[in-house]
Amino acid sequence: MNWKNTIDRYGSLSIAMHWLMLLLLVAVYVCINLREWFPRGSDLREGLKMWHFMLGLAVFVLVFLRMAIRWFGVSPRIQPEPVLWQKRLAGLMHLALYIFMVAMPLLGWLSLSAAGKPIPFFGLQLPALLGVDKTLADSLKEIHETIGTIGYYLIGMHAAAALFHHYVARDNTLLRMLPRRNRLA
Ligand code: HEM
Ligand code: HEM
Repeated sequence: MNWKNTIDRYGSLSIAMHWLMLLLLVAVYVCINLREWFPRGSDLREGLKMWHFMLGLAVFVLVFLRMAIRWFGVSPRIQPEPVLWQKRLAGLMHLALYIFMVAMPLLGWLSLSAAGKPIPFFGLQLPALLGVDKTLADSLKEIHETIGTIGYYLIGMHAAAALFHHYVARDNTLLRMLPRRNRLA
């Protein structure tokens, strides 16, 4: 399978990145939600938060590769071709998802910086992006959490649209994003 996108299908790199990012985002959400189960200051709670930060930052690194693939390569066409408003809506949704994947880790990084807390990244300590300012840290955290909640809806609508295309419109939207073996099944 070609690693690059062609006019007819996503390449292996886009497919691998898409599903890897889904796994990363699920892990990011699971870690931060599970932390509530453990007492403040406990190792498990702090460990879950650390994984939330590190996996979220991994999303930040990888999303730039994905955006380069999207904007410097071709996007495969859907067959049969959807109506114009559906294509525009899909384009807007993809843009929103890319903004989400850039903004969320960045807001998290900014919020930890303003709180004067360390920013771990797989054995490294990333630099603070801002000076310490507790009020700003709280506002950034609040924005991060609000957009985090919006993320559930964005991802849910995006996945529902993929299922709609597959089962109702019966076009190749979803099949283009699956590895070849499944596509032929
Ligand atoms: C795509 C990436 C990310 C998503 C979807 C995400 C999502 C979330 C969500 C939904 C919450 C709120 C949980 C709740 O309301 O209980 C949260 C909290 C938080 N996130 Fe993220 N996050 C991401 C990346 C990051 C990164 C990269 C950092 C820091 C480097 C970070 C730092 C934080 C902090 C400090 C909190 C508050 C934790 C607490 O007060 O216990 N996040 N995040
Ligand atoms: C169960 C979950 C998911 C399903 C079933 C799914 C399905 C799909 C499908 C079928 C496409 C191709 C659509 C098209 O070309 O018009 C696609 C593209 C895309 N998906 Fe997902 N997706 C899921 C989760 C996610 C998540 C969690 C994100 C990120 C937050 C995401 C971000 C994207 C983006 C940005 C594209 C556009 C790719 C490009 O640049 O061409 N998806 N998805």
